[in-house]
Parts: sequence; structure tokens; C-alpha cells
Amino acid sequence: MRISVIGCGYLGAVHAACMAQLGHDVIGIDVDPRKVEALENGQAPFFEPGLPELLTSARETGRLHFSTDMAAVAGAQVHFLCVGTPQKQGEFAADMKYVNMAFADLVKHVQPGDVVAGKSTVPVGTAEGLSEQLAPTGAVLVWNPEFLREGFAVKDTLYPDRLVYGLPTDDEGVPTAEGEKAKAALDEVYARTLSEGTPLVTTDFATAQLVKVAANSFLATKISFINAMAELCEATGADVTRLADAIGYDARIGRRFLNAGLGFGGGCLPKDIRAFMARAGELGVDQALSFLREVDSINMRRRVRVVDLAREVCDGSIVGRKVAVLGAAFKPDSDDVRDSPALSVAAQMQLQGAHVTVTDPEAVANARAKWPDLHFADSAVEAARDADVVLLATEWAEYRELDPAALAGVVAHRRILDGRNVLDPARWRAAGWTYRALGRP
Ligand code: UDX
Repeated sequence: MRISVIGCGYLGAVHAACMAQLGHDVIGIDVDPRKVEALENGQAPFFEPGLPELLTSARETGRLHFSTDMAAVAGAQVHFLCVGTPQKQGEFAADMKYVNMAFADLVKHVQPGDVVAGKSTVPVGTAEGLSEQLAPTGAVLVWNPEFLREGFAVKDTLYPDRLVYGLPTDDEGVPTAEGEKAKAALDEVYARTLSEGTPLVTTDFATAQLVKVAANSFLATKISFINAMAELCEATGADVTRLADAIGYDARIGRRFLNAGLGFGGGCLPKDIRAFMARAGELGVDQALSFLREVDSINMRRRVRVVDLAREVCDGSIVGRKVAVLGAAFKPDSDDVRDSPALSVAAQMQLQGAHVTVTDPEAVANARAKWPDLHFADSAVEAARDADVVLLATEWAEYRELDPAALAGVVAHRRILDGRNVLDPARWRAAGWTYRALGRP
């Protein structure tokens, strides 16, 4: 099939490359000429495992191209809308300007019978409005949310847990004839994925839009739940990692997403739960989501707590102390620093008078662009040189595997804060380190 992908960020670039991998002819559109040039040359504009290989193989097959010109979507039967919906400055609500701009441009180039598939995470009600705008063109809108995680984006796109189609429906909630045709087009796009037994949920627009924010709210709640338990563990001398193991054996609870630590960040969970609260307010059901306010504040409290821990281990003050922060990305296997807990903590410590040096295997360039006042180092050893305290803030494999004996030789004081609960306390203590963590004795 011929497919277009509008917006080539973390979502769109991966989606475009995966669609080409599934055998489709794909044109990716982005307003940023540098991004388009890099992608057209087979280079990933950000770090995402597996993406460079897909771009290289697509160059060989000639199935994947990129352009800044929306007119290049002509001839595509399905157009995926993959632009970002960041948080509005100073507000909880999502900023819809990229969706609105891209959509207004796309509408000029679609043909009757084309399918426009929305993938961006949007406030519920958006699809209904876009569908009305699209109607005069004879093209049809469907909502097909994306659930990919950065770091696993290629795998999550090629082998998703489920596919969701939100179709236009009549007054009785039954898909319209146009909706059925659009479903058939999406079935063709995802033929291989569906043939592998991937569950498909077909529903209406509102449900499809809600599925995405509901899933992210649940995940955020799970993380904040265990971080709230970490606060209890800190007050009682209990160990949150053992607690998570024990409750996680209950299949109704499950161990995944129960890793206590510095909490969630990134371009999705924080802004999505806030936008969801804002939308619930507009819909007059703000009480239904008031718990998300608590989820958000538990999450933000972890960042404050780790600064307090640094102060505790440094005998009451971090003023003038050298702090090494291992990690800048919001999670491992990503160079994304949007709402990164690691950088937020680094900046707080610096603001409070510490000399902070940050390192990260992939995210230093992005971090430096956003936080030019922080100091950066090329390796954990460099960052830790003469440090009074070392904070593991993003659990990259290379930091999990650090040798406490080797690092002991470069620091001024052997004090380690395990912001992600991934180190073995006994091993670090045996090498003479003061080990402190979030939610562990
Ligand atoms: C998330 C959702 O998982 C994905 O389905 C959605 O499409 C987009 O948002 P992503 O933001 O890429 O994906 O990362 P995710 O793996 O969910 O992690 C989010 C944050 O939560 C990270 O900062 C991570 O460090 C943190 N986290 C995750 C925890 O603190 N504890 C956990 O147990 C799991």
C-alpha cells in the first residue's frame, strides 16, 4: 500500500520506518528540513534501538522517502497523523497547534476515499472535530492510537500488544459504511500484524481516544503507587523492592511498572495525565480524575526526596559539594530529555549550590541544549572524579554494571544514591560505600 506519515518525531519516524518494513511504500512528512534530510539519508535524528537498521534496509528497498512538502502525500491511500501534542506553556492542557496545522495542510491534499488515521495523543473529542473538517473532501477519519515506548519503539510498532481502531459510527454506535471501508484499509496496512494474532479492538472515536490516555494514566498510577509505598518504606525501614516483588506475584497486580525510584518523566506520561485532567474539567467530570493530581504530586515529590537524601549523606548541606549525576535521559535506551527526572534533580541541586556534573551515554547533546548551565562529562568515571556524592538517576545498563571498587578510586567520598533501585546494596557497601536509595533501608 502507499502510506503517508505526517510528523517524523519519536512516533512518526518509527511508524514510517516500520510501515516500510511491513512492505508498504511510505512517504514521511515533517516541517523540519534537517530532520527530513537526515531521514532521507538513512540517518535516525534521535537515538532509538533498531531504527537505524530499519532506515538502512528501507534505503535498499527504496520504499521509504521523506519530504517537507505536504503535496508529496498525493497517491497515498492511508495518511497517519503522528505530530506531537506537548503540554501548553503554564497550563495542564495539551497544545493542539501542531495537530491543527498539520491537519489543515493535509486536508488540502487528500483524495476521496483516502483514510486519515490519527495516532497523536489528543484530548477526547478531537477526532470528532477533525472528522467533520475532513468530510467535504470525501476522505474518512479513523482513530488508531499508538502505544509505543521509547527504547522499544520498533518492537512495539511491529509487534504491538493490541491494535485499536476508532471508527466513525451512526447514532446507534454502529460503524458507518465509510467506517467499514476505512477498517478494511487499516486491516490491509496491518495485515501481517493481525495475521500474527495481535488482538484488535474496534470501537468508536471517543473510546479509541480515551484508551490511550486511560492506559497512560494507569501506568502512571502504578508507578506513583509504588513510589507512595516507598515513602512508607522510608518511614518504617522497609524495602520497597521486596514489597514490589511480593505484591507483584499476585497476577492481578503484576510486577511490571512497579519499580520505585525517581518516578516517571518523558514526553508522554506527565503531560498526558495533566491534559487528561484538563479535559475532564472541560467535560464537567474533573472529580473522576482528581486522583491523577495525587499521582502527579507523588511523582514530583520523589525528585525533592532525592535532593534531601543527598543533603543527608553530605552531613546536612550540598552547598559547594561535588555531585555526579549518572543519566540525563528520562529513561535508558533513549536520548529524550523531555521532563527528565535526572535533569530536574541535577538542576535543583545546582540551584541549591552544589557543583553538578551530568553524564549520559546518549543524551548529553540534548541535555546541554536544554540545560546549558549544567556541567557535562563523557563518562561515569569522568563525572565521578572528586565527587562527594554520586547519584544514579537513569538506569542505563552500563551504570547498573558499574564496579564499585573501580569507581572508589576516583571519588572524594564513597557515597552512592541509587535513584532507580537497580544496584546491589551489599556489593556497594562491601566496597566501602555509603549506599542510600529511595524506599530502601
Ligand atoms: C509511555 C507508555 O509506556 C507508552 O505506552 C506510551 O505510548 C507513551 O508513554 P515512554 O514514555 O516511552 O512510554 O516510557 P515508559 O517506559 O512508559 O516510562 C515512563 C517513565 O516511567 C520513565 O521515566 C521511567 O523511568 C518511569 N518508570 C517506568 C518508573 O519510574 N518505574 C517503572 O516501574 C516504570
